Amino acid sequence: MTDHDYDGIKELDNVLPPWWLYGFYITIAIGVFYYVQVFTNSETYSQKKEYAAEVEQGKKEIEAYKKAHPELYDDANLVALTDPADIEKGKELFATKTCTACHLADAGGSIGPNLTDDKWILGGGFKNIYTVISKGGRPDKGMISWESTISQKERQQLASYIISIQGTTPANPKAPEGDITWSKQ
Ligand code: HEC
Repeated sequence: MTDHDYDGIKELDNVLPPWWLYGFYITIAIGVFYYVQVFTNSETYSQKKEYAAEVEQGKKEIEAYKKAHPELYDDANLVALTDPADIEKGKELFATKTCTACHLADAGGSIGPNLTDDKWILGGGFKNIYTVISKGGRPDKGMISWESTISQKERQQLASYIISIQGTTPANPKAPEGDITWSKQ
């Protein structure tokens, strides 16, 4: 019985069950241990160190992946694709990525030059075509850089498609532009 007495109501002072009491002490101990481990920059473990280690590990994995798949990161190794599925995808992209707005659906040319003839302003062949799509044409001519909006693979498919239609005859071909002559054969 405690000495609390409120309007005749008394309070019993029971001994706490040991299992409860020890559970309580254990959680306090865990709390202190946890605090020291996580919030102080301890030698053995800290969130900051764990984070830094994981970032380090991630960077290593990216490097290893880049080494294992150079073709995905290095434009220099890209070549024209010949698989019909890639050409078909290139054709689809040519329409959906608004290339047709300036080059027309059959690539005969309107604002942009005819892409089917053998005259090139910026150079023919896969490498040049790929570079123009990636980096754009001369400033203020209207051909922008697409590398931030079209993936590498898709630019490769676009360039491959353009090469595949080389020598075809569009309905209203625009007069040849450019001093560089390049044709597929
Ligand atoms: C806003 C109009 C416009 C759009 C859209 C456009 N182009 Fe062009 N493109 C041009 C113009 C203009 C040039 C000529 C650039 C120059 O003279 O420097 C050009 C040049 C090119 C060339 C080089 C031709 C040469 O003779 O050297 C290629 C290849 C090409 N575009 C492909 C594409 C592809 C692929 C797309 C879609 C992703 C596209 N273009 C979208 C206007 C456009």
